[in-house]
Amino acid sequence: MSPLKTAILAQVLGGFIAASIIEIAYPRLFSLHLAAATVQGVCAALASDRLGAPKWWLFIHLAFLPAVVWLSQAGINPAWYLSAFFLLLLIYWRTDKSQVPLYLSNAATAAAVAKLLPDRPCHVVDLGCGHGGLLRQLARTRPDCEFLGIEHAPLPWLWARLASLGFPNISIRYGDFWRLNLGLFDVAYAFLSPVPMTRLMQKASTEMRKGTLLLSNSFAVPEGKTEDVVAVSDRRETMLYCYRMRGE
Ligand SMILES: C[S@@+](CC[C@H](N)C(=O)[O-])C[C@H]1O[C@@H](n2cnc3c(N)ncnc32)[C@H](O)[C@@H]1O
Repeated sequence: MSPLKTAILAQVLGGFIAASIIEIAYPRLFSLHLAAATVQGVCAALASDRLGAPKWWLFIHLAFLPAVVWLSQAGINPAWYLSAFFLLLLIYWRTDKSQVPLYLSNAATAAAVAKLLPDRPCHVVDLGCGHGGLLRQLARTRPDCEFLGIEHAPLPWLWARLASLGFPNISIRYGDFWRLNLGLFDVAYAFLSPVPMTRLMQKASTEMRKGTLLLSNSFAVPEGKTEDVVAVSDRRETMLYCYRMRGE
């Protein structure tokens, strides 16, 4: 089940269990909204645990309804909540589906990636390019190479697009990288999450040419055979996993 469906189910189950307990044991609690919401939070957290969601979801379930009740008493205009929701949606898009949130490669990582590019002019793609910062640093270092960034979250895409306007060797495309043919690229760079790595390796192995390179920041492909693992000297101790395609 997707994390979003699990979360909704946990909330509904939590609400149902809490309502049943309160109704039977102490009906007057219903008038005390915050207390009822707290009981619901505890039940939702327990339901989430039973549904096998990661532990950090427990705190979200515990706090969700109590926060809703508490904030609804604070007299804040509901338009603010709607605006915040749309802003987050435009930045993170369908993270619930992709399970790849937005976080950015740092300058030290971009410098390490630049060293891994072939000496000759080549085509490089950043799969989920975020605001395109990595590509801009690479494009400055390697004006002889062509860089493509593809991004599906609207605001990072727009930022990447506008910020890369002065770079003749960068193209930024709006879209889903799962639909992009990787056969055109000499190097594909990915900074995603553990979730899509097996699928990404299958895609890269099918589409990329023999001798080309898949670089993954921080997330190794389970049971994938690395050609090299580069330790970047930055504070977060970034690892770059390098997979040389065998042209299968
Ligand atoms: C961890 S960020 C990395 C950003 C950038 N590559 C960097 O290294 O700075 C991952 C990005 O991939 C994007 N993303 C996730 N799945 C995607 C997909 N299927 N198609 C396009 N972009 C995607 C997310 O929106 C997010 O901006």
